[in-house]
Amino acid sequence: MSELKNKYTDAELAQMSEEDLARLGTELDGVTVAYRKERFPIENDPAEKRASRRVATYLILSIVLGLAFVAIYLFWPWEYKHMDEEGLWWYTFYTPLLGITSGLSITLLGMGVAAYTKSFIPEEISVQTRHDGPSDEVDRRTLVALLNDSWKTSTLGRRPVIAGLAAGGAALAGLAIILPMGGIVKNPWKRGAMGIAGDGTLWTTGWTLHEQGEKLYLARDTGAVAENHDGHWSTQGISRLVRVRPEDLDAGAMETVFPMTESMVNDGDKYDAKADVYEEHMHSIHGSRNAVMLIRLRHEDALRAVQRAGQEDFHYGDYIAFSKICTHIGCPTSLYEQQTNRILCPCHQSQFDALQYGKPVFGPAARALPELPITVDEEGYLIAKGNFIEPVGPAFWERRS
Ligand code: FES
Repeated sequence: MSELKNKYTDAELAQMSEEDLARLGTELDGVTVAYRKERFPIENDPAEKRASRRVATYLILSIVLGLAFVAIYLFWPWEYKHMDEEGLWWYTFYTPLLGITSGLSITLLGMGVAAYTKSFIPEEISVQTRHDGPSDEVDRRTLVALLNDSWKTSTLGRRPVIAGLAAGGAALAGLAIILPMGGIVKNPWKRGAMGIAGDGTLWTTGWTLHEQGEKLYLARDTGAVAENHDGHWSTQGISRLVRVRPEDLDAGAMETVFPMTESMVNDGDKYDAKADVYEEHMHSIHGSRNAVMLIRLRHEDALRAVQRAGQEDFHYGDYIAFSKICTHIGCPTSLYEQQTNRILCPCHQSQFDALQYGKPVFGPAARALPELPITVDEEGYLIAKGNFIEPVGPAFWERRS
């Protein structure tokens, strides 16, 4: 190839070797190779073997740490252990070990690639002038030839061990990123045992226990935490949840309440300093669909309240209870404005009218907040009179309303 042309026929291109095409591609792209030097021009250079071993070491370590990450992710004890519980020591290392192994695996892969580039890719300084417009056929062909040439000059083709190790390291580093997403893949229909947080499906809550004959109190969170007794932390005698009476709320007030069974009660005349119900209380608070807003309407407002058909007796006097889980996409609708009787969800500003059975009046939510039927028991505590008659929370395929 002696002179540089801009147009070539298919026949001319077919006659050129890959090397000719690669050189032509460089020249047509306005690239001038100012300097190029092979790293190991002499065959069987001992320095080349040393460099090869160094790269292989980085990549092997990257693979070992990637495998360690996968093994830790799958087999290390990961379930929460509280203070003094057996296995706490092992559990506390779960997250740090995941971070250390995945971080080091990716770092060593990067070090292997960097070491390979510095050791085996020819040193080269090229200068390219920029041009605009779409690519010609000649450009496309020469690009392929250049890529092939890059593969050859990378010498990876004749270093299958390093190529294999690099591919393995890259695959495991990729796994370290993808594998943790397995934790968010869940079967929404999988039922566990029915408990104070529901049975694990989206359409049950702790309040569903009412259907099994459980008496459920509306209980408020006191925020009490474990106490230190001579260096030993204990939750004995601590009531995180306590029962609520109507007179505990002022007119126009709102209180977040959670379901509490009779066996979980540890307050008032039922207080026992030795009872330890703290863990069950926390399960109720952490039940993602359990939270309910108990609202005491001002009496003059309660007189104007419109009840939804079929829910006429769900409220107790001026007291009304709605699920706190927004029917848009499930944020807690925490803000009750007593002047307007509106409940505001801070996530996307949906507003629900407490005087119209929690009907949405503004924002993206499309359905009313489910209402919990409530009453007062013979001791004067607020209790659930039944379960929600529809699933709480955002729209999903199982909902009919
Ligand atoms: S989650 Fe409540 S408005 Fe979006």
